[in-house]
Amino acid sequence: MSQKLYIQTVGCQMNVLDSEMVVADLRARGFELTDRPGPADVILLNTCSVRAHAEEKVYSNLGRLRQMKLERPDKIIGVIGCMAQHHQMGVFQRAPYVDLVVGPGQLRQLPALIEKIRAGEGRQMEVGLGRKEGSRAAVARSHETFDPLRDPQMRPNPFQAYLRIQIGCDKFCTYCIVPSVRGPEQGRPPEQILAEARRLVETGVVEITLVGQTVNSYRYRHGDGRQTRLADLLLSLSKIEGLRRLKFVTNFPKDMTDDLLAAVRDIDLVSPYLHVPAQSGSDAALKRMKRLYTVAQYREMMERIWATVPDYAVSSDFIVGFSGETKDDFDKTCELVRWARFKNSFIFKYSVREGTKGAERYADDVPDDVKRRRNHELLDIQSEISYQDHQKLIGRSFEVLVEGPSKSAVKRDQDEGPLVQLTGRTHHDRIVCFPGDKRLVGQFVDVTIFDCTANALMGEVITQPAFHGSLVRK
Ligand code: 5AD
Ligand code: SF4
Repeated sequence: MSQKLYIQTVGCQMNVLDSEMVVADLRARGFELTDRPGPADVILLNTCSVRAHAEEKVYSNLGRLRQMKLERPDKIIGVIGCMAQHHQMGVFQRAPYVDLVVGPGQLRQLPALIEKIRAGEGRQMEVGLGRKEGSRAAVARSHETFDPLRDPQMRPNPFQAYLRIQIGCDKFCTYCIVPSVRGPEQGRPPEQILAEARRLVETGVVEITLVGQTVNSYRYRHGDGRQTRLADLLLSLSKIEGLRRLKFVTNFPKDMTDDLLAAVRDIDLVSPYLHVPAQSGSDAALKRMKRLYTVAQYREMMERIWATVPDYAVSSDFIVGFSGETKDDFDKTCELVRWARFKNSFIFKYSVREGTKGAERYADDVPDDVKRRRNHELLDIQSEISYQDHQKLIGRSFEVLVEGPSKSAVKRDQDEGPLVQLTGRTHHDRIVCFPGDKRLVGQFVDVTIFDCTANALMGEVITQPAFHGSLVRK
């Protein structure tokens, strides 16, 4: 009888991809996916270490699984991904009923490790080397990925896919755990990336998002000395017949080169959208964060983006309450957000991470209520900007890739009739909600915008070939 696998994923696109690979690998070996932990023979939690909150949630989820393990000791419980790499034996110490701890670079070994546990060899742990535990080459080898195994069943949509072009990170921002848990920056060979993209498109994918921690630093050195950069990759990928949209996340401001911006401008397939985290608008804070640029340099980058592609949508990440952040530092961040008019910003309260330079060097000295207040304040500023910019789009029409019923429609269980509230995205990555036939999911439709909130545009379909009838709103 086939074994049942339950997998829960938190964190970034890298984790979503890793889970897709793990599921593909285990399904190929006879595992069957289940959407509940109860009937599962193997339970895997794919984890994130970027903020303490994400780790605490995993431990509380593990706490809930404890009873299941007591009732069925043969159930295998595994913690995989960044927290496995970060806490290592610590996971077994805090949750002794866990059987398996596997870092993001060791996921290929999962089936063998599960076999070992089944064979009675006891709990298993496989993790990569720490950044100082060997030569760069040895550490890099211990953080490999096992793309391109793919399993569309694990994706939110069969027509949209992430494609990893780079693993690891070499920037060492002082607050960030990623370089320790994901290892050195390594670009995947372009031939592999192209082959994987072709396979995805052959199986119905129309939108690919290239992912890497600093995706615009991508560089692959060929044996003959040639180099492939992100701009080259975009050009090669754009020639794949059937591919309609190409995006890439996340960018590092300093590596936003003119040749990349020109490539993005000149290749229609590439979305006019860039995610380029600023993290702070204060030079003093950026220096403590070791972000390697000044606010003036970030602004200069924005001006180059606007000069190359004027209607670009740019989004950003910010950390509020980083060690030593004064009111003046925070005011400067607000000023940058007002000036840059980002499409949207993801705002995080600083969470001190053991093992980072930030934790070693600086006190986590901004009180939590101040962090919370600054988070809200910055979010309010950003929301007002997003709302104003959305309002300017009312009356215009956009091509939207329909992603599915909107969350509220699913919640209200409205998807019974022919017309449901659908949601999709424009080429600029703006969210659009509109009533339409469920059969439009996965298609491109033209939508005219008549209303908006800070988070989304509201519209109506102009042409809807799959549906004949009135689309007048109530
Ligand atoms: N605390 C809070 N936010 C963090 N990020 C990274 N590390 C931390 C941390 N220690 C944020 C950054 C990054 C995003 C993915 O998470 O803004 O861009
Ligand atoms: Fe973390 Fe900085 Fe690397 Fe981004 S660039 S993953 S924030 S170290």
